[in-house]
Amino acid sequence: LSVKKELEKILITAPSHEFEHTKKDLDGFRKLFHRFLQEKGPSVDWGKIQRPPEDSIQPYEKIKARGLPDNVSSVLNKLVVVKLNGGLGTSMGCKGPKSLIGVRNENTFLDLTVQQIEHLNKTYNTDVPLVLMNSFNTDEDTKKILQKYSHCRVKIYTFNQSRYPRINKESLLPVAKDVSYSGENTEAWYPPGHGDIYASFYNSGLLDIFIGEGKEYIFVSNIDNLGATVDLYILNHLMNPPNGKPCEFVMEVTNKTRADVKGGTLTQYEGKLRLVEIAQVPKAHVDEFKSVSKFKIFNTNNLWISLAAVKRLQEKNAIDMEIIVNPKTLDGGLNVIQLETAVGAAIKSFENSLGINVPRSRFLPVKTTSDLLLVMSNLYSLNAGSLTMSEKREFPTVPLVKLGSSFTKVQDYLRRFESIPDMLELDHLTVSGDVTFGKHVSLKGTVIIIANHGDRIDIPPGAVLENKIVSGNLRI
Ligand code: UTP
Repeated sequence: LSVKKELEKILITAPSHEFEHTKKDLDGFRKLFHRFLQEKGPSVDWGKIQRPPEDSIQPYEKIKARGLPDNVSSVLNKLVVVKLNGGLGTSMGCKGPKSLIGVRNENTFLDLTVQQIEHLNKTYNTDVPLVLMNSFNTDEDTKKILQKYSHCRVKIYTFNQSRYPRINKESLLPVAKDVSYSGENTEAWYPPGHGDIYASFYNSGLLDIFIGEGKEYIFVSNIDNLGATVDLYILNHLMNPPNGKPCEFVMEVTNKTRADVKGGTLTQYEGKLRLVEIAQVPKAHVDEFKSVSKFKIFNTNNLWISLAAVKRLQEKNAIDMEIIVNPKTLDGGLNVIQLETAVGAAIKSFENSLGINVPRSRFLPVKTTSDLLLVMSNLYSLNAGSLTMSEKREFPTVPLVKLGSSFTKVQDYLRRFESIPDMLELDHLTVSGDVTFGKHVSLKGTVIIIANHGDRIDIPPGAVLENKIVSGNLRI
């Protein structure tokens, strides 16, 4: 009850032009918070988790074998591409939207996305639109940049996800005292995860507009996943379902390696496909959950979702996503929680859902500067906004790269490489401490460079390091 009162107090501080959408946001928050208070105990019963049946996760090759539709343009014209663009680049030390970080030849994530879709539209003479789901953190900066694409053959739409109040962990009351989100209140609000897309897309009116235009599916993905390009085979499978039964939700999954401990996995639960995230797993089963042998795949967050189904379920309030409780400490030291949901968690609410086990190349996320080094290097070639592994690399796997904390911020990272080294023959690179790379360095096999505290290592221009450990003044 006291939360309700606090929310009302916040709402009356809203200027009239912000009143309606603030009310919608706070109502949405109140419902989520209510569910959070009601839910006791874990959201999944471990005993009920089963391996998904054979045909519920199909190999990509099988989907590909069905070929392309006779008329690619007509199926493409039923598609809308949506990129999740609510996140900031803070983990790579950048202010502003992550999508505006330069990733390859001066191109940002957003540039590459626009190039990919423009290429598609030019090749097939189509008008596939791009929709960006922004948050209050990214909307202004993103919109400024969009003018740059006004001459591109891609119509770009944006909508905003909700803005929810962070909650004091002890009192369970909102931190915000009024609706503002600058100054003192900067840290009092948060975007509640990408699961917010269903309600926000619906509320924006875009869902109805696209349905009215004859669009049938959205392809949703993280804007920082450079592998998430429109796949015509998957699209064809959706538009021409083999058994005539339309599939309302496709989740692209890919095989786990031992390094992939994060993503959720698809399971069979009470007769339906369900995404289970590690946070939902009871402690006693965490190792079993992480094991590559039992749960072989994880969610790439590349999702294909029927627009009509989103409308139907949203209107019945029937999209059910587990609540993720995300604890944070604010700059002043206050402990808060934020309640979030994940877009893929809704899979269980849709009919006839399907997992497709796609090649690893469709999952190329850039979360750290180590990932950035890989995508900037000659391991990949860029073609119409898409990155593909260079044919000159002899093995199909990507090297393992670990750059130390002096490289965490994009600016520091860029300063430390005069040019990006040749990495075609690299297997493993570890760099730690104050290290810089001159122009045209070549890294091969396993290379470890460690500058101890107080030392600095400058790799000279043109150096070729092959199976080498460079450390302090000791060179092996
Ligand atoms: P993150 O970078 O936060 O997630 O967002 P992650 O660590 O990869 O893991 P998952 O996907 O959440 O499991 C992934 C994408 O979702 C967007 C980000 O901008 C990014 O493109 N996002 C995240 C939103 O649009 N809104 C949010 O509230 C959170």
